[in-house]
Amino acid sequence: MTRTRVLTGITTSGTPHLGNYVGAIRPAVAASRDPGTESFYFLADYHALIKVQDPARVQRSTLEIAAAWLACGLDPDKVWFYRQSDVPETTELTWLLACVAGKGLLNRAHAYKAANDRNVAAGEDPDAGVTAGLYMYPVLMAADILLFNAHKVPVGRDQVQHIEMARDFAQRFNHLYGQPAGREYFVLPEAAIEEQVATLPGLDGRKMSKSYDNTIPLFAPAKELRKLVFSIVTDSREPGEPKPVEGSALFEIFQAFASAEETAGMRQAYAEGIAWGDAKQKLFERIESEVAPLRERYEALVAHPRRIEEQLREGARRLRERHATPFLAQLRDAVGLRDLGTVGAPRDAAPAPRQRTTVLAFKQYREADGRFHFKLVEGERVLLLSPGFESPRDAGQRLAALRRDGFQAAGSDLFLGDGVDPADVQAALDALRAAEDAKA
Ligand code: TRP
Repeated sequence: MTRTRVLTGITTSGTPHLGNYVGAIRPAVAASRDPGTESFYFLADYHALIKVQDPARVQRSTLEIAAAWLACGLDPDKVWFYRQSDVPETTELTWLLACVAGKGLLNRAHAYKAANDRNVAAGEDPDAGVTAGLYMYPVLMAADILLFNAHKVPVGRDQVQHIEMARDFAQRFNHLYGQPAGREYFVLPEAAIEEQVATLPGLDGRKMSKSYDNTIPLFAPAKELRKLVFSIVTDSREPGEPKPVEGSALFEIFQAFASAEETAGMRQAYAEGIAWGDAKQKLFERIESEVAPLRERYEALVAHPRRIEEQLREGARRLRERHATPFLAQLRDAVGLRDLGTVGAPRDAAPAPRQRTTVLAFKQYREADGRFHFKLVEGERVLLLSPGFESPRDAGQRLAALRRDGFQAAGSDLFLGDGVDPADVQAALDALRAAEDAKA
């Protein structure tokens, strides 16, 4: 069974705030624990360059966002966690897609159109100050998604158009280069729209957003958190006067952190005329109790940026080895960026079913670092490589699980050999089993 691939990008252009936590981080970390999904989370730092041209801020934001996701419980052993710019196949694919993307379609992208409209309203040239980066934003985002053939992309409404564009580019590419064998290079991704996820109001009651300068940083020290909570706008109702919960930013923020019972209690307190100062103190305490343990982890993580750097690089290294590099090789071949030595060789006919003449075998071995590995080989060709295990027993157990449960179920940390497709591996496993059954 193929797990559903769910992919999420986070632009590294700011400091995580409570709105990001409630609207994105908390639900995504919960979703990442679903065993039926293979999750991809990445720091979209190429995207950040479109908005932010201050290098120190891009770097700082990347660190803060990576540490925030880890502190909030994202487990890099269970999900793919990486930085976009560590996967240069992304930019290479961006170009391949740019060459099938309709310029007219990009003209209609919301972010670009909004910039045009602002310029026109100000009496400027429509493209004043608009970079090609902003214009290409949807192509870069499509590359993020299509590179890993993600099935689902959880996004807010504002991003749905981008997913539709990614589908459009994917379809054009499949149509153009998949013939005559009818090969589908790309999965057509779907937007998973998050309706039920709260958007949090900010200090002034408008949506919490960096562009309104009304945010509460997720990991502000407790003292500052309290001060910010006390600066949330309220009205002039006196203590003792009943207060409506409708339209109360304070109440809405409370609700985002509280259980149903706690929320009912606060509703009651409003009706009974709780003083604003007391309501704010309760809100502060409620947020603090959820955030304090996360803040502690966050601070420990940020104190060791090198460890985060290592983790991100390792994530990208494995992901490239396993998916991005072999996939790009296929795509390069598809468009004609090819080895000149193969000119004229037949390639578009469906490949004839291969006769196995070479010997399939598992090999177990020890490497110089003392760790135990295994690999699946077909003659000289390596189909699959394991990571290093502490003991031969651990390696043997993983190998047994792979043989028993198949590649999809047991292969998540194994590396595919160069140009090897997961289907090749499963076919080899099946062939090995058939050979054993025949012997038995
Ligand atoms: N554009 C997204 C945002 O601003 C971030 C992003 C970049 C993204 N690439 C992506 C989201 C791919 C989902 C999939 O929120």
